[in-house]
Amino acid sequence: MSEIDNEMRRLDKKSNVFALIGNPVKYSLSPIIHNKLFYKHDIKATYITLEVEDLERSIQDMRMLDIKGFNVTMPYKDGIAKYLDEVAEGGEKIGSLNTVVNEDGEFIGHNTDGFGAREALRRFTDIEGKDILILGAGGAAKAIVYELSKYGEVTVLNRTVEKAKKLERLGAEGKELNEHNLEREMRGSDILINATSVGMNEEESLVPSGFLRSRLTVFDIVYHPIETKLLRDAREKGCLVIDGLWMLIYQGLKSFKIWTGIRADPDYMRKVALRRLKDV
Ligand code: ATR
Repeated sequence: MSEIDNEMRRLDKKSNVFALIGNPVKYSLSPIIHNKLFYKHDIKATYITLEVEDLERSIQDMRMLDIKGFNVTMPYKDGIAKYLDEVAEGGEKIGSLNTVVNEDGEFIGHNTDGFGAREALRRFTDIEGKDILILGAGGAAKAIVYELSKYGEVTVLNRTVEKAKKLERLGAEGKELNEHNLEREMRGSDILINATSVGMNEEESLVPSGFLRSRLTVFDIVYHPIETKLLRDAREKGCLVIDGLWMLIYQGLKSFKIWTGIRADPDYMRKVALRRLKDV
């Protein structure tokens, strides 16, 4: 009997249901990771994907069905707060949520992306008092800026400068992303984070390799491919490199902790995710 069959056999009508809502949802690694964790920790639960067209109605349905928790992905992360009962610390300021827990019928929203980025970095390097340069000012960047500005000096460079300026309310300095600013800011930075989608499924990088120096830590939130052009260039220059799968792992670890109280093993989660990525 396959492992999946074993997982299914453990479910019964009292099992808890967790979900991912978004559109599209089919490429997500979250179902395989959370289902493996439920199995490993002997929790009678399943994690399903729901491709949602009408967010408000789907939330009502999830209340009726007593769904115990769910993740939220594109395009609903920014618009979901108004359908929930409460938003946990930070979520309101970031304005973007990726995790909801059902606490005795109350839907409470969290953002675990910032935690994911912070723990991915901390696994490999110290972030306290560091100069951190973030490329991008979208949803992911917002959560990262909010979290990391508690630890270091954060500068954001973004193609659309107004969006970078908006992040100043979260504690960062915002400027336009152009070669001049990039070269200058990189000279004074300890950590460089690509929080844009550039590099996803393509051989492109926003950073000319000549700007990279070996004392820089380079973290890319893109995880497909696992080694983006930016990370390969950085590795070749002798930088410490951290891939986006680590962020995905740690944000998932935090969601799992919110839902179950259990701290999962990030190395196990990564093994599961890598195995799945090889099949994609
Ligand atoms: P997410 O929620 O995943 O962060 P998003 O909100 O669409 O996604 O944000 C994508 C980020 O990548 C933005 O900062 C975007 O820059 P703009 O605000 O100027 O659109 C950035 N981005 C995407 N493609 C880019 C490119 N080719 N060059 C520079 N920045 C890019």
